[in-house]
Amino acid sequence: MTSVPLPQMPVAAPPAAPEHARQGLRDSHGRVIRDLRLSVTDRCNFRCTYCMEPDDRFLPRQQLLGLNDYLHIIDAAIGLGVTKLRITGGEPTLYPDLDAFIEAAGRRPLDDIAMTTNGWALDPRRVAAWKAAGLHRLTFSLDTLRDDRMAAITRSRTSVATVLESIDVARDAGFARPKINVVLQTSVNDDEAVHFAALARTRDLDVRFIEFMPLDSGRHWDRSTVVTAAQTKAAIHAVFALEPETAAHAAETSTNFRFADGAPGRVGFIAPVSNPFCGACNRLRITAEGMVRPCLFSTDEWDVRPSLATGRVEDVQALLQDATWTKQKGHGIGSKEFSQPARGMRAIGG
Ligand code: 5AD
Ligand code: SF4
Repeated sequence: MTSVPLPQMPVAAPPAAPEHARQGLRDSHGRVIRDLRLSVTDRCNFRCTYCMEPDDRFLPRQQLLGLNDYLHIIDAAIGLGVTKLRITGGEPTLYPDLDAFIEAAGRRPLDDIAMTTNGWALDPRRVAAWKAAGLHRLTFSLDTLRDDRMAAITRSRTSVATVLESIDVARDAGFARPKINVVLQTSVNDDEAVHFAALARTRDLDVRFIEFMPLDSGRHWDRSTVVTAAQTKAAIHAVFALEPETAAHAAETSTNFRFADGAPGRVGFIAPVSNPFCGACNRLRITAEGMVRPCLFSTDEWDVRPSLATGRVEDVQALLQDATWTKQKGHGIGSKEFSQPARGMRAIGG
């Protein structure tokens, strides 16, 4: 039933999780997984400096999983208590079967299906079809409102206006208050926090500032390149007073604010570096070629392909449970033992 090419090399399987862990997806630190982040392609048409290098290689196409494999994984995960799905990449709109994938995912019993895109091209009819099929939320990655910087950061020809148009397309298709992820880097775009807040206000957007994490394949990250959530918030608050919003749920990674003067829009701050939230993490990631990564910063990852090849959902479930049990307690950025994972964000899925 599945077209999975088996790996060439014998692959390590995770150690078996203890029997008492075999209820849903549990890790050895007491966390329960509800949120699956599935990458459907490792391809991207941007080369964002904080993510990948211009000469990074993509996997051979035949190594990527097929539509039925992704759906098989989702069904296995739903059977283990997953209620949220985020479709990631690379750039998911480059996945040839994306429309069929969203259509099929929308028929699954999930509370929330979201997708992150760089906004390079969104066709209104396609986006409307995604919405009708059950895609609940769309997030855009946009790090600058200046075209000269857009070219320098993304190393693409996509203009800021194009991404803003895509955001309008999303809104017109019924995605209320689209979200923008912004990664600020010192001396690159760290003077744009207030501009993004102003954009949130005028267009009723939800702008999330994510601290730069050591997940860039070029390994340029160091602490001094990180603009912290506290710095960004202070810069905005000095111009537009902010009022905290109550967190929607415990695993919320972002601390969110509305504008005290009642203007539309929201801003949020995600602080994985300055204020790690690993203790409340409920996420599991799977790469486009079928590697299970319990943490963004996992140095071990587990191959789901041998379990997919049997065609039995129980085998995929056992692998997901074993992999989840190995989830590390935290990322340890800043500790002496920290080592950056071999994969960059593009090859993991955000
Ligand atoms: N640090 C922080 N955020 C990153 N992203 C990609 N690479 C990094 C990084 N090194 C963001 C993208 C995207 C989200 C999924 O992850 O901007 O919006
Ligand atoms: Fe592509 Fe997203 Fe990575 Fe930028 S951050 S290179 S858009 S995967």
